[in-house]
Amino acid sequence: MEYNQQPIPEEYLTLSEEEMEKRIRDIKEELGSKLVILGHHYQRDEVIRFADHRGDSLRLSQLAAEAHEAEYIVFCGVHFMAETADILGSADQKVILPDLGAGCPMADMAELEDLERCWEEITSQYNVEFVPITYVNSTADVKAFCGDHGGLTCTSSNAPKILEQIFKDGKHVLFLPDEHLGRNTAMDLGLTEEDMFQWKRDDWDIELPDNPPKIILWDGYCGVHMRFTPAHVDYVRSKYPGVKVIVHPECTHEVVEKSDLHGSTDFIIRQVTGAPAGSVWAVGTEINLVNRLAKENPEKTVVSLNENMCLCVMMNRISQSHLLWALDNLYQGKVVNQITVKPEVAKSAKIALDRMLEMS
Ligand code: 13P
Ligand code: SF4
Repeated sequence: MEYNQQPIPEEYLTLSEEEMEKRIRDIKEELGSKLVILGHHYQRDEVIRFADHRGDSLRLSQLAAEAHEAEYIVFCGVHFMAETADILGSADQKVILPDLGAGCPMADMAELEDLERCWEEITSQYNVEFVPITYVNSTADVKAFCGDHGGLTCTSSNAPKILEQIFKDGKHVLFLPDEHLGRNTAMDLGLTEEDMFQWKRDDWDIELPDNPPKIILWDGYCGVHMRFTPAHVDYVRSKYPGVKVIVHPECTHEVVEKSDLHGSTDFIIRQVTGAPAGSVWAVGTEINLVNRLAKENPEKTVVSLNENMCLCVMMNRISQSHLLWALDNLYQGKVVNQITVKPEVAKSAKIALDRMLEMS
């Protein structure tokens, strides 16, 4: 989906770093508890430093559900995260995304119409119960579909727990949009390729197998995490003897298999932060976070698994200038870039999100 960001006034692009920092801090002070700034770990340093709370997708949805006293939530992240905050926040809260162009390509890989067609095929072919589970990296209407069809959302932090419970209950799963998170999590739970089926959105002649697969995987992916390859793992192992390779489960299964550890953004942070001085880490996730981990852990060696930067350009769209512009407007009583989800969609999407939060 394309969300158009109007150009912001020229003055915001020419202000000095110091001036912008001062103005942002002053406005934060003035607005006090009326304002909360949430930031995902993949945000630039120049932006994340202003976040009242930072987190991965799970933590940020929990924070949005708890931040009831704030009138404004300024979300430094991508569009689906701001939508989630609007769904989980209270009715009178306003959620603001400083740059409307910050979408997530993976979320846009699952469109409601395609999901309805896939669901129709699955439910007309099989006599077993399927549960639609969508990664939170999805649009509000996909979350709403899951809420309306007995399903729920998940994040990379809680996908293992949620999938384990669903399989224990003897149910089958349609997992979307991220093929890799679905496959890696299912494999961790002991499933094999024979238990899985790869749905292909653009294949109109696709035939489901006769026996119901334990999990049907949508064919979405994160272009940032796809840039790590098994060759990168071989390379860092030869360059840094004793290195620990840790990757996000949005990476391919071949990369996950060759790594030492894999897990959500929060898991990666905890592992690297808790590691002994002198340890060496090659990290397979977004570069802003990897660089921050390196800076915050000077007694360890922390490098990107891919030396050629894996930057999420969408997360990176939120700049200090856009943040100041949004806050300046708020200060003058004007709400710009408000993210609102239609009430009927929000109601069903909240069911899916609440089910996840209960199981987390
Ligand atoms: P988590 O925050 O769940 O680790 O997801 C990473 C990501 O790609 C967010 O867009
Ligand atoms: Fe989307 Fe990947 Fe960027 Fe996360 S890192 S916002 S999944 S493109």
